[in-house]
Amino acid sequence: MSKITLHLGQTLAFSDNPMIEGPDTVRHDSRGAIAVQDGHVLARGSADELRRSYPAADVEDHGARLLLPGFVDAHVHFPQTAIIASWGKRLIDWLNTYTFPEEMRFGDPGYASEVAARYVDLALSHGTTTMCSYCTIHPESVTAYFEAAARRGMRVLGGKTCMDRNAPDGLRDTAQSAYDDSKALLQAWHGQGRASYVITPRFSPTSTPEQLSALGALWAEHPDCPMQTHLSEQTDEIAWVRDLFPQARDYLDTYEAHGLLGANGLYGHAIHLEPRERDRLREVGGALVHCPTSNTFIGSGLFDMAGLITAGQRVGLATDTGGGSSFSMLRTMAAAYEVAQLRGMALHPATLLWLATEGSAHALRIADRVGTLAPGTEADFIALDLASTPAIAQRSARASDIWEAVFPTIMMGDDRAIAGVWVMGERRV
Ligand code: GUN
Ligand code: ZN
Repeated sequence: MSKITLHLGQTLAFSDNPMIEGPDTVRHDSRGAIAVQDGHVLARGSADELRRSYPAADVEDHGARLLLPGFVDAHVHFPQTAIIASWGKRLIDWLNTYTFPEEMRFGDPGYASEVAARYVDLALSHGTTTMCSYCTIHPESVTAYFEAAARRGMRVLGGKTCMDRNAPDGLRDTAQSAYDDSKALLQAWHGQGRASYVITPRFSPTSTPEQLSALGALWAEHPDCPMQTHLSEQTDEIAWVRDLFPQARDYLDTYEAHGLLGANGLYGHAIHLEPRERDRLREVGGALVHCPTSNTFIGSGLFDMAGLITAGQRVGLATDTGGGSSFSMLRTMAAAYEVAQLRGMALHPATLLWLATEGSAHALRIADRVGTLAPGTEADFIALDLASTPAIAQRSARASDIWEAVFPTIMMGDDRAIAGVWVMGERRV
């Protein structure tokens, strides 16, 4: 029999979204454990119980650290790693000034590999073990991303960003080449190891109707692949979409009319939705991805977390690096809390942690594999130090329960709080 390792620490087990079920349904074990064998979670329970069940197991005791699933970042642009925190622009200007010139560089496989490696290492050091990334129009950028993740054994999702208009020379494909390149990459990578391919039209302003239709056709041929795009992020962008697609009922309709609305769809931002768009997204079961540091940094608006979740929408959480201003899902949870506060709702720490792990995994439809630490799932997990800086330590020392103990780390924590990261049971950080 192969080796079993018991990891001891504080643990949390969610039965469902605590925003709907209530935080009392979350089971907290101050002396909990997970048993790991062959890269998978074998069992989860109290430390005493698992020590009795597996007396011959190796034991790693993480003390008062909180063992959590690795964070799942449901929307990121790895090629924007080097231009994170670029000053002073709103969406369209930001894309033209900072993003597109940087993305042009990814036709060079050497540069693409260098940034992909840097990005996945930064993500891991911040406790993120799975992400869903946009690459650039260059197939080389997709190869670099999947190779960097595979070298570290990570479960990742991503795809070639397609654009055939309103982008500079050197950063446009065509309807046909977007279809052909995406198909070839999908065949090379989807289901290869822990990789999933995501069909990726950037957003309606940078795709002609012909390109949207070609990618809709590809999705119809491969409905098990996710599809990701951007939706209703800024009001100027929405007005531009209205000009470009005068016949469309709304922004979502520009996707719907071309076969790009579906249950496996991931719609980033989704801030300024019309009632019809909300209804259609709920009917088809598409996921909305909230990117709060991006929404405040680029000045996009305040996502309606409470309204959308209570209406039954699937919602994931994401950094949107480099429109987002951090690689950290802790910082992202803090921003989600602040955005919700500005809309009159205080998100419970249980909800924030759920969103950054299980919620994002549900949005990506991979919660049967990662994001929960349920027995049988892949052993991607972190140990979170709840006293990682003097400021956090003095606050958490006063806590009367786990939620009060973890909230200062959510609000003030960064990569210093990530005391360890395991991917398929192997320590990576
Ligand atoms: N909309 C289209 N492309 C992008 C991007 O790269 N970042 C963000 N935040 N929004 C977008
Ligand atoms: Zn984005």
